[in-house]
Amino acid sequence: MEKNVRPADMKRINTPELAEAFIAEQVKEVREQVGDKKVLLALSGGVDSSVVAALLIKAIGKQLVCVHVNHGLMRKGESEQVIEVFRGQLDANLIYVDATDRFLDLLAGVDEPERKRKIIGGEFIKVFDEEARKLEGIDFLAQGTIYPDILESDGVKAHHNVGGLPEDMQFELVEPVRLLFKDEVRVVGKALGLPESMVERQPFPGPGLGVRCLGAITRDRLTALRESDAILREEFAAAGLADKVWQFFTVVPDMRATGVRDGKRAYDWPVIIRAVNTVDAMTATVPEIDWAVLKKITSRILAEVPGVCRVLYDLSPKPTATIEWE
Ligand code: XMP
Repeated sequence: MEKNVRPADMKRINTPELAEAFIAEQVKEVREQVGDKKVLLALSGGVDSSVVAALLIKAIGKQLVCVHVNHGLMRKGESEQVIEVFRGQLDANLIYVDATDRFLDLLAGVDEPERKRKIIGGEFIKVFDEEARKLEGIDFLAQGTIYPDILESDGVKAHHNVGGLPEDMQFELVEPVRLLFKDEVRVVGKALGLPESMVERQPFPGPGLGVRCLGAITRDRLTALRESDAILREEFAAAGLADKVWQFFTVVPDMRATGVRDGKRAYDWPVIIRAVNTVDAMTATVPEIDWAVLKKITSRILAEVPGVCRVLYDLSPKPTATIEWE
């Protein structure tokens, strides 16, 4: 049977029992494939790579080597959660690379969105490649490829913008969730004991906050972006909106607006709130968020995030706007 084609009679995994059966089967298959060899995985902390990591830890324990690259463009608390869950709770063999300075130095002064994406993707490969070369005896590369990746591209996680590893780094692939749809990956993740906040995570672009800190990224605006985004996420969760709105985040443009603080004029940044509902991200609508929730978020951002004087809510559907601002 073609290994990348979902069999017509494969059941949709939508119960803990079906997830357990899938996990047992994959554990057996991975052990057969890998034997006593080592497997490398780029663990971003996204749903797919996290579920693959948890599954492989169950199957082969410390034979799995996870590399988490913090490109400095993660949301608040994300890298910390990866370390806490995988090193702290699952006792994973995890290499943590804080490459923040490398990425931000390379991105300094670069304001063209596609160029920013290329730099982030290219540097990610470089850092991962450097880490892989330091390790010995790795024969396999695990990937969080899921079925839509196979259907939409040719099995490459194209939307991760990471291109591929250099040609002299040849590994056999281990892709245990390649026949699953996203909702099934989440059910399997829950059955593996991963926290809800990791498994139910909203989509987050590969270039991360890099495409939400508009224009040339600066560290101070990036901090304002990360802090305002954390407040938005906290307040949406408190208002019961976190699992009702498909994607929501803040954006900080590279411009200042007039404000007044302590009786003096100030030129500070605006923060834009973006929230959308969509089925496939091709078109999107803007949810009607309760005024009281928006006001609370606004007052918290203005009080808690230095350098911000205004908060705006983006009412634009896709089309004509895209979901991201860059
Ligand atoms: P747009 O902005 O095109 O976004 O309406 C549609 C969906 O794609 C995500 N997105 C990206 N994901 N790398 C990614 O991995 C990217 O460069 C990228 N750009 C947009 C966006 O978050 C939304 O879910």
